[in-house]
Amino acid sequence: MSEAMTRRDVLKGATAVLATATACGGASAPPRQRPAPAARNSAEMDRFVADCIAAAEDDQPQEAVQEVLTRAVSEPRAMLAAVGEPDTAGLTVFHRSENLTIFAAAWTPQMNLMPHNHLMWALIGIYTGREDNILWRREDDRLTGYGAECLFEGDVVALPDTAIHSVTNPLERFTGGIHIYGGDFFATTRSQWDPESLTEQPSDGEVIRRVFERANTRARCAADET
Ligand SMILES: [Fe+2]
Repeated sequence: MSEAMTRRDVLKGATAVLATATACGGASAPPRQRPAPAARNSAEMDRFVADCIAAAEDDQPQEAVQEVLTRAVSEPRAMLAAVGEPDTAGLTVFHRSENLTIFAAAWTPQMNLMPHNHLMWALIGIYTGREDNILWRREDDRLTGYGAECLFEGDVVALPDTAIHSVTNPLERFTGGIHIYGGDFFATTRSQWDPESLTEQPSDGEVIRRVFERANTRARCAADET
């Protein structure tokens, strides 16, 4: 395990996404109690992360890491057991170094994330739920959607360093995926685009944090109604 790794550290700013005290339909409503996180298999994750770190030293790191990820999510239940059942939108970071970032991303039911780029190669492998990616490209100084990748459990997609995508969980349950990047994802200033105007902005951790916070509030309120 690398010293650079921050084990299950939910990052601050762009990634610190914990249960929010925002009330459902009234400022006086108390926050709902959330169940304790599911048990996780850290030894399994340690092996997976070590395999990814070794593969990232390959001459073709994205392809080599993709093989590791594809093998891992080909048994989605094992990966789910290793990461834990998602119950809150957020990013759980397993490794962060100059040439590799690995985290699990959890999306609440029907959560959306605006178009953004990474400026480094990326891999996404789904271990529970489904993640729909809209692929965008720049045309005449604005974004145009040109394709989609619908990822189900066990699916892996490879994105080049030029990719721009937005993400939707179309399901009425949580989606969880392993996201791997060929660089330090959190130390790179990238771009994000307003979902309605498609105005390009520098990546802003505070904006992303609020997206996750609102998604968690909606999920909690929806659960309270059932
Ligand atoms: Fe992304």
